[in-house]
This record gives sequence, C-alpha cells and structure tokens, in this order.
Amino acid sequence: MKQMMVLVLLCLACINPALAASQPPLPTGYATGWKKSSRKVVTDKNSLFYGVHYLYADAKALQGYRAGNRFPEGSRIIVEHFTIKADNPAVDGPKNMVVLMKKDKRQTATGGWLYAGYTAQGKPSGLDPVTTCFQCHQKEVAHRDYVFSSSADFK
Ligand code: HEC
Repeated sequence: MKQMMVLVLLCLACINPALAASQPPLPTGYATGWKKSSRKVVTDKNSLFYGVHYLYADAKALQGYRAGNRFPEGSRIIVEHFTIKADNPAVDGPKNMVVLMKKDKRQTATGGWLYAGYTAQGKPSGLDPVTTCFQCHQKEVAHRDYVFSSSADFK
C-alpha cells in the first residue's frame, strides 16, 4: 500500500481529469454492508506497506475468494489505507487513500478488472489504471485472478 501511495504522490503530475471523470463513484455502504478483513498493520518504516489497511469484499467477491480466487463478474473489493503513528501503532492515523477493484469483462487492458483510486474523501483521483495499478497486480498475482488477498483474510 505504501508503494501505491508513493506512486500516487509521484504521479500527481500525471493525474488526468478525463480519467477521473470516467471513473465510477466509490460504492456507498461498503463500510457497513460488506465483509471486512482484520486490521492489517505494517510498522516497519522501511516497508513499502508502512501503515494500516482494511479490505472490504462484497458478496460476489466473497464467493470468488471461497472458490480459490476465481471471481464472478461484478465482484468488488475495496481497500482503505490509513497512516500510522510510529509511537502508537495501535491507533489508526488519518485515512489517506481508498482503492477499488471491480470485475468487469470490458476492461481487457487490465485483466478484466476495473481499477480505481480515490482520495480519503472518496473523490476519484484519476490515476492511470494500467501503469499505476495493473502492472504490479499482473506481475505478482496474475495466477490468482490478479488478487493478492485470499479467503484467509476474511476469517
Ligand atoms: C506495488 C504493487 C501495487 C500497486 C502499484 C498497486 N497495488 Fe493493489 N495491492 C497490492 C498488494 C500487495 C495488495 C494486498 C494487500 C493485502 O492483502 O493486505 C493489494 C491489494 C489491492 C486490493 C484488494 C484486492 C487484492 O488484490 O488483495 C485492491 C482493490 C487494490 N489493491 C487496488 C489497487 C489499485 C486501484 C491500484 C492503483 C491505484 C493498486 N492496487 C496498485 C499491491 C499493489
């Protein structure tokens, strides 16, 4: 997640208003209606994943996890990322990023998933889904339907 943030920051210059306009709005109600993962904390400041995050999966995505990461059309997974206080990792800092993956067979350039990034306030950030998102997911987890997490994250 940290690396994503770094990319997001590095990429401020390449944020494209046309892309932001074409992004879907952040789904509402996920925080209360979807299955939430346990709190995932990375306290090593040298790690790319320094911070706290939670995953949320809708009912279709949960089916996909249970099928060993083979996700049905329409599955949606969201990650909320928060900063963390070095002196008290038990407390979440401010939210600083939200990302969405939605299974959408029209998205042929990105493995049949729509990738979208949002600000902490849920506004589309207009990041390029291929270079900012898909390249990493493709490189690491193409064999798991491009999804890192697994059903174990939602126990
Ligand atoms: C440098 C690699 C990298 C990049 C770039 C990246 N991600 Fe991820 N992403 C990950 C990793 C690793 C996880 C797993 C986190 C976990 O399970 O705790 C993840 C998890 C996710 C998840 C939850 C589903 C899953 O795969 O476990 C979504 C949704 C997601 N990322 C969306 C995005 C979006 C949208 C972007 C672009 C704005 C993006 N990611 C860019 C590495 C990356």
